[in-house]
Amino acid sequence: MKILAIETSCDDTSVAIIKDGRDVLSSIISSQIDLHALYGGVVPEVAARAHIQNILPVLDQALDAAKLKISDVDSIAVTRGPGLIGSLIVGVNTARVLATIYNKPLIALHHTEGHIYANWLEKTKPLAPKFPLICLTVSGGHSNLIYMMDNLSYQIVGETHDDSAGEAFDKVARMLGLSYPGGPIISKCAQAGDEAAFGFPRVDLTQKPFRNEAGYMEKSPESLDFSFSGLKTAVLKEVRALELSGSLSDNQKNDIAASFQLCLNEILVRNTVRATKRYKVKTVLLSGGVAANSQLRTMLTEAIENLVDVKFYYPKLAFCTDNAAMIGAAAYQRALLGDFSDPLTLIPDSGLKLLSAS
Ligand code: KG4
Ligand code: ZN
Repeated sequence: MKILAIETSCDDTSVAIIKDGRDVLSSIISSQIDLHALYGGVVPEVAARAHIQNILPVLDQALDAAKLKISDVDSIAVTRGPGLIGSLIVGVNTARVLATIYNKPLIALHHTEGHIYANWLEKTKPLAPKFPLICLTVSGGHSNLIYMMDNLSYQIVGETHDDSAGEAFDKVARMLGLSYPGGPIISKCAQAGDEAAFGFPRVDLTQKPFRNEAGYMEKSPESLDFSFSGLKTAVLKEVRALELSGSLSDNQKNDIAASFQLCLNEILVRNTVRATKRYKVKTVLLSGGVAANSQLRTMLTEAIENLVDVKFYYPKLAFCTDNAAMIGAAAYQRALLGDFSDPLTLIPDSGLKLLSAS
């Protein structure tokens, strides 16, 4: 089954053609990073306008690379949400038009399920991940631990109380005067830095009381949740102190980057190992833009190797950050269940919740 997938939820315009949920016949990603780097972050109106300009050329390139016509594919898939509404509208409307004109079934996806199913692409390991599993999804918009009993069955067992991991990378990069997006540049600076230079806090919500939704302080020994705001504030304090005492040197920036990266990754690994043990899973997956972080990949590989009979998967680098191939991989599972949407009525949803298949 060939699926033409479209992803435009943030600042990447991407179209891919995926066969049977794993084979990538083509994958085109047009990045807008240079446009948004001028502003230090994604500007929603600029992103929407760039998607409008890019979507048809990217669609043509994806079809050419796969040597296919739209009439050759079996269905059209698209990210319905969450994301920037102006960006989502471009992808969803393009998918609706294609599905209507070419009379193809339309599959609507949650962006996070795409990130999860990036682990099925290109047979990075010969066998597909086995259930039950835990997936650590860490991107600019999310930091979740998701338990999956089976395909398309999602239970969020850990989430962030404040910033996402990707946001923390981006904000620390901005504090250090580094470019957007923060993840790649922080990890580059970290290679030249001393990760023991600063002892940033490894905030552990099983130990530390936090404010619950009702506004009361609560301690939860079972919590698998994350909180990165304390870490971010600790970095900001160091940066301000160094700036006041003279200038913030490149070496000091490298040390802060290395110490911050190690701290954040230790928190992610700690909670993932706890979830793996608690849910007695067979597989651990890593996904989302922060999954491109090489230290995180190495640390999780080592941590999961120490657990008996648990396999660890992470996507190839190109499928960690936003891409349409991952949407095609997830769409295949929905197509097998006949979970299609009406092209005449589908609308994007910027706050879409991750729902299991019924
Ligand atoms: O999944 P993604 O492309 O977009 C969202 O769905 O949000 O993730 C983007 C995030 C950004 O915050 C970026 O700084 C982070 O992923 N990122 C990284 C790395 N590459 C991208 N974070 C850490 N290390 C990296 N190498
Ligand atoms: Zn994403």
